[in-house]
Amino acid sequence: TEKAKVTVHYNMEGQTVTVQSKEGENLLDIAIENDLDIDGFGACEGTLACSTCHLIFEQPIYDQLEEPTDEELDMLDLAFGLTDTSRLGCQVCVTKALDGLTVKVPEGVADARDV
Ligand code: FES
Repeated sequence: TEKAKVTVHYNMEGQTVTVQSKEGENLLDIAIENDLDIDGFGACEGTLACSTCHLIFEQPIYDQLEEPTDEELDMLDLAFGLTDTSRLGCQVCVTKALDGLTVKVPEGVADARDV
């Protein structure tokens, strides 16, 4: 059966880019597939080793996400500009329930591998 389509809005540097994805894809892969030009984003290619895929969610969306793993939380601690609704994009898969979500790309990135 066809996977449900999910619309995602990426807010970067005050501009919003709207892309289409499919249920089950993660927010790093979606950004890459759509050639979103985010400086340094996804440096470790989703292997939970960098924190450059840091994204900020709106509270109601954040509350719907599955709990982050300890590994994600450890890496997230190293992200630049961490907020209460921050997650790592490579660890968050979209679902139909999240359709139309907006994620904010932080102004800067910190690559944990450089620390
Ligand atoms: Fe490196 Fe997500 S891409 S932790």
